[in-house]
Amino acid sequence: MANQFANQSTADKQVPILDFTSRLRNLPDSAFDSVAEMLNFLRKTPVQSQTLTPYLSWNHQRYTRNLIDKTHMYELIAICWEIGHASSVHNHRDQNCWMTVPIGKLQVRNFRVVHESLDRGVCQLEEAVTLEMDPTRPCAVDSQHPVHSVHNPLEFNQRAVSLHLYSRPFDRCIAYSPAQGTCREIDLRYDTDHRKTDEQPGRP
Ligand SMILES: [Fe+2]
Repeated sequence: MANQFANQSTADKQVPILDFTSRLRNLPDSAFDSVAEMLNFLRKTPVQSQTLTPYLSWNHQRYTRNLIDKTHMYELIAICWEIGHASSVHNHRDQNCWMTVPIGKLQVRNFRVVHESLDRGVCQLEEAVTLEMDPTRPCAVDSQHPVHSVHNPLEFNQRAVSLHLYSRPFDRCIAYSPAQGTCREIDLRYDTDHRKTDEQPGRP
């Protein structure tokens, strides 16, 4: 019975994605500098999953990145994960990143960088903490260990959609191959782009 009330309480707090982006745009710039404060905002402001439908695209070969909103302070991206999809191991150098999972659940595998030389394209990584995210458990990238991969393992047996909030926006990152001990800088791109042309998020 207690769980039923807890779930109801979570559902009551859910907001449509356009309300979510409006609230983000109303936050002061300083809000994007505090990892803990933004994580608290995400916990208190879960997104109604059905309102994400217009932003989602699916590809059986790989996960898709769908831009929802972008300002000078942040970009908000919906990532669609089919069963078995996983990201490369990558970093978030000098950027804050928060993730929340309105649909399904995902696994985050964090890595410790023992050694890295981007010039020579070599690295040595060790696996660190692994954690799970679901609609009630958003997470922030650990600024001390900003290298991770995200997985929708076969055993989870369901599609997942995550929202990634990056501050500030960035279009490049380093991708690592821990097994081969190699790393390289890669460009990031969007599969779909839904950002509004005006400065404020619009409504239908
Ligand atoms: Fe990431």
